[in-house]
Amino acid sequence: MLSTPAPDRRFQTKTSPEGKVDQTAELAGKHLLLGLTGGIACYKIAELTRLLTKAGATVQIAMTEAATQFITPVTMQALSGRPVYTSQWDARVPNNMPHIDLSREADAIVIAPASTDFIAKLAHGLCDDLLSTLCIARDCPLLVVPAMNRQMWQNAATQRNVATLRGDGVEVLGPDSGPQACGEIGDGRMLEPTATFEAICAFFQPKILRGRRVLITAGPTFEPLDPVRGITNRSSGKMGFSLARAAAQAGADVHLVAGPVALETPWGVYREDVQTAQQMYDAVMHASPDTDIFIAVAAVADWRVDHVSEHKIKKSADEKLPTFSFVENPDILAAVAKLPNPPYCVGFAAESGDLDLHGEEKRVRKNVPLLIGNLGPLTFGLDDNEVVLFEASGKTCLPRADKKLLARTLIGEIAKRAPRGGSILS
Ligand code: CTP
Repeated sequence: MLSTPAPDRRFQTKTSPEGKVDQTAELAGKHLLLGLTGGIACYKIAELTRLLTKAGATVQIAMTEAATQFITPVTMQALSGRPVYTSQWDARVPNNMPHIDLSREADAIVIAPASTDFIAKLAHGLCDDLLSTLCIARDCPLLVVPAMNRQMWQNAATQRNVATLRGDGVEVLGPDSGPQACGEIGDGRMLEPTATFEAICAFFQPKILRGRRVLITAGPTFEPLDPVRGITNRSSGKMGFSLARAAAQAGADVHLVAGPVALETPWGVYREDVQTAQQMYDAVMHASPDTDIFIAVAAVADWRVDHVSEHKIKKSADEKLPTFSFVENPDILAAVAKLPNPPYCVGFAAESGDLDLHGEEKRVRKNVPLLIGNLGPLTFGLDDNEVVLFEASGKTCLPRADKKLLARTLIGEIAKRAPRGGSILS
């Protein structure tokens, strides 16, 4: 009787301790072959591996002999949870062809750090060790993350080799600029692990917004009362920043106008910080003519005091409470929608009740083709969200999801609706 052969466990998608793959993780189901070459930046790959596996990717490490001088295979095995390969002659691969087998299951090969020497090898098609042979034998995309001294990076031969790689369709990520391990300052530093991680995530996203210019407002505004006090709200900015990230990953040219928030600028996004609604209005009106899609996510203060005290307001001796008179702030979304040739405008609404009524009413009042309403309790600061799309044809409910994944879905919905080739009248 024939027995069923045992599954080859090397390439199984990594499972959680409960034995389940988290399908909502950003890189769930992705299999990456991460190749380390010799360079001090190898220390960054420990953190990169952690970020990739945490995002659901299966990471198979292969190292050159030189890389093992900078970080041990034991460390990389512990972090990736898989055996590490360093030799062409590794007998653990059943058919003794690690250069073929290890690359076949990979969705992409990432060489990080990529040394000057390894880049030269790749550019010339040399394959004298496991990693370079893997690259030549691959049938998947290749990403290269250079790391070297600034003179080595600027060297004409290196520049020629990098241009050759780009011409061959290899994705070159970075390098960064700044202080180097050797003490010099300049171009050639490897991208930080988070930036490399973001670039890898972006690589896997379809470029549905390539060539589109997207303007996004995010976060709260802060309306001062005096030099130390002001009025603001509980918007964390997470939804707007997640949309900016998703739009950039989809290939858009993204301009993010952010109120006061404590969030990292998403990879590849141009960020402009503002404080007040008036400043946000000015920034948006300035950028609008160069915009194809405007997404207003900011929780803009409706009012500001008509006179900001020059000095800190003191408690008065007779215990009289201060009084303020307010004036209305400009409605940024409505103003953009009113422009003679407006971009495709998308509004957001966070309501504490009767979303159906307020959502559609708000969409019509602001004269925008699409308004996205938060369903259920206000979600300020939370990592997930459940939304409803309001448009002239009716409403569509989307399931609750992590804000980053929801942002990706929303960018897909917006890309489907925003007309190409010029702006529209809503
Ligand atoms: N918005 C804006 N400028 C403002 C107020 C709101 O651009 N001054 C935008 C928000 O970014 C959001 C949409 O309009 O996309 C709806 O915001 P919301 O605060 O819900 O609307 P308001 O018109 O302020 O209505 P209300 O506060 O009365 O619910």
